[in-house]
Amino acid sequence: MATPITEIEDLKRIYKRRVPKMFYDYCESGSWTEQTFRENTTDFDKIRLRQRVAVDMDDRSTATKMIGEDVTMPVGLAPVGMTGMQHADGEILAAQAAEEFGVPFTLSTMSICSIEDVAKHTKKPFWFQLYVMRDEEFLENVIRRATEAGCSAMVLTLDLQILGQRHKDIKNGLSAPPKPTLKNMLNLSTKWGWGMDMLKTQRRSFGNIVGHAKGVGDMSSLSSWTAEQFDPRLDWEKVKKIRDMWGGKLILKGILDADDARAALDVGADAIIVSNHGGRQLDGALSAIRVLPEIVDAVGGQTEIHMDSGIRSGQDVLKAMALGADGTYIGRAFIYGLGAKGKQGVTDALNVIHKELDTTMALCGHRKLTEVGRDILLLDDEFNRYRRNI
Ligand code: GLV
Repeated sequence: MATPITEIEDLKRIYKRRVPKMFYDYCESGSWTEQTFRENTTDFDKIRLRQRVAVDMDDRSTATKMIGEDVTMPVGLAPVGMTGMQHADGEILAAQAAEEFGVPFTLSTMSICSIEDVAKHTKKPFWFQLYVMRDEEFLENVIRRATEAGCSAMVLTLDLQILGQRHKDIKNGLSAPPKPTLKNMLNLSTKWGWGMDMLKTQRRSFGNIVGHAKGVGDMSSLSSWTAEQFDPRLDWEKVKKIRDMWGGKLILKGILDADDARAALDVGADAIIVSNHGGRQLDGALSAIRVLPEIVDAVGGQTEIHMDSGIRSGQDVLKAMALGADGTYIGRAFIYGLGAKGKQGVTDALNVIHKELDTTMALCGHRKLTEVGRDILLLDDEFNRYRRNI
């Protein structure tokens, strides 16, 4: 009998064995020294929980809503570039797992499976994450394609006009598909399960881009794409323009400062995502969980506040919700599952997180996630250590 999956780390171990090194490294890296990447997870450890007893724990529910959509638990699948390189047809499989579980799936602009492909293989609307490109025609087209595919929200990423440097991606020569160098071939020869699945699919390049965009030197490289195509001029005026072009629900991702959260309110965002891009952009920025309470205090109640970056367990979800988030996202935690076991692995990751969330909520004395507040938390004095020097 296979060893049961009881925690996200179990999936990560299998994932590491199964998936080519360059894609494992892509997932598991932060920028430069990786300080922010590390603190995204270690800062959760600085928050402890108040155990309560003799409270009726029957009839519990983690259900709530994110931007008006019912969710089994407030844990969406974050947009992750190149998900279809972690497992053949990865975006389709992850979207199906999310749909069956009852949580949102967000498709990255830099996905392998295209918007149309994911729409064809799912029943419920998913969310589309947009990177703003210099090429206006591409931008208009991709927004139209998301509308036609029935996407129910646009997640506009604001923290990646230029790409933070992740050393390993450069050293590994990251590309989709991998280039047939000796080093890659040697590594791929040990990843036959991954390779057999990849041989069976046609989806091996950036599905939203290839065939839809012009003037890109190397279509297989995420770094040349971002350098050549992402629009470094993206500012609040352009955000408003995109809001109007899209016309539907808008979620602004990558907010890490209360002033920016207020600016997002002015744009009329339906939600903001407190995020440092999983520690992949500005190294030295604070962890998302550390910034979350300040942003909740600044704009909570006026727009929904979601957070990502560092969530690896249901306990992390509970801590974020207790601090005032209305929703959270997992990126790496579902990629571990996907790389390990395909669609079943994503379902396993969601099940693990759901069980941890439900049990922790109960042992903190609550039956409904919507009723949980800051009173269940005990914060280390150091948690509020960093202040603006003004
Ligand atoms: C792109 O979104 C990345 O973080 O690599």
